[in-house]
Amino acid sequence: MKLLVTGGAGFIGSAFVRMAVGDRGFHVVNLDNLTYAGNLENLAPIAGRECYRFVHGDICDAALVASVLADAQPDAIVHFAAESHVDRSILSPEPVVRTNLLGTFTLLDAARRHGIGRYVHVSTDEVYGSLAPPLEATEEFPLNASSPYSASKAGADLLARSYFVTYKLPVLITRASNNYGPYQFPEKLIPLMIANALSDQPLPVYGDGMQVRDWLYVDDHCRGILAVLEKGRDGEIYNIGGNRSLPNLEVVRQVLSLTGKPESLIHYVKDRPGHDRRYALSSARLTRETGWEPAMDFEAGLARTIDWYRANAAWVARVCSGEYRNYYERNYGNRSVTL
Ligand code: NAD
Ligand code: TYD
Repeated sequence: MKLLVTGGAGFIGSAFVRMAVGDRGFHVVNLDNLTYAGNLENLAPIAGRECYRFVHGDICDAALVASVLADAQPDAIVHFAAESHVDRSILSPEPVVRTNLLGTFTLLDAARRHGIGRYVHVSTDEVYGSLAPPLEATEEFPLNASSPYSASKAGADLLARSYFVTYKLPVLITRASNNYGPYQFPEKLIPLMIANALSDQPLPVYGDGMQVRDWLYVDDHCRGILAVLEKGRDGEIYNIGGNRSLPNLEVVRQVLSLTGKPESLIHYVKDRPGHDRRYALSSARLTRETGWEPAMDFEAGLARTIDWYRANAAWVARVCSGEYRNYYERNYGNRSVTL
């Protein structure tokens, strides 16, 4: 199979490319404009392969996307590229709306003109918004996004669906829960807490730390996307969850315990505006239709992830320099410790 992958230099996209090229022998063209979150080091394990090619470019550039499609002639597109962080979307919504909405539109329209055979649109459970227990979102749940990030993803999902309904573009949508694993940029909860714990820095917990997320190991997510790509039904939406709901504080405590650091590193800070209290979803449709199930146990996945961050201190140091310091100061500088 020949794939055009967008955002393949990011956290999940690079795990998917390593799996598709390294394990499955697929041909992959990776279109990525290398924002702060894009890092070609993430692709070092497959960089020299004949069946892999990198194109440095923006998914909002219609002429470039058309020429990449004409040149690569892929069987399918798997669309990961996005501005993916809620806190950044609160600080600076413009690039989020541009890439997530205009970029998705540009790609969908190029795919329609090209007549692509399959199009997997990678989305998130955050489009369902906060759910009171014991609710778990099925794919029919209403879209109820809260942040500029989740709203842009919900809008992109609707655009993707419209291209299936209106133009019969064979679009499939995946909505995954919170991912964790190696190579994740240390702005999201788990890698940030690991990086800070390993360097004895405070671990900033928003609000009371009792917000709940479902945790999915990145390779389980990538296997789920492959299952949708190969066995999913056109026009369908598939939730992909890890079956492991935890309050943030519990995750942070596990990070401290596994890194051997004291709980005194926990710093409660001012809450995120519009913070969704709880995400939860059911992946029953994906399991029923493809046999997919999450394989990684959370404690084992977290230990493996911490081992990776310990062994890759140079990677962490590089991505935590420069722009990251400015972001950290903007996001955490005026949050101030409340305990
Ligand atoms: P990431 O931020 O690590 O990577 C995003 C990648 O997209 C980067 O390589 C970046 O350079 C690239 N990119 C950004 N704007 C681009 C543009 N205009 N043109 C070309 N490339 C561009 O993101 P991630 O965490 O790997 O998430 C990947 C996808 O999965 C996103 O669509 C995200 O919404 C979705 N998702 C993420 C999670 C999660 O927990 N991280 C959960 C569910 C869904
Ligand atoms: P995050 O990794 O940003 O993912 P999302 O907001 O997309 O679910 O955050 C996960 C949870 O962790 C969320 O409830 C916010 C919380 N959080 C903190 O408490 N402190 C932090 O420094 C970060 C980044 C997140």
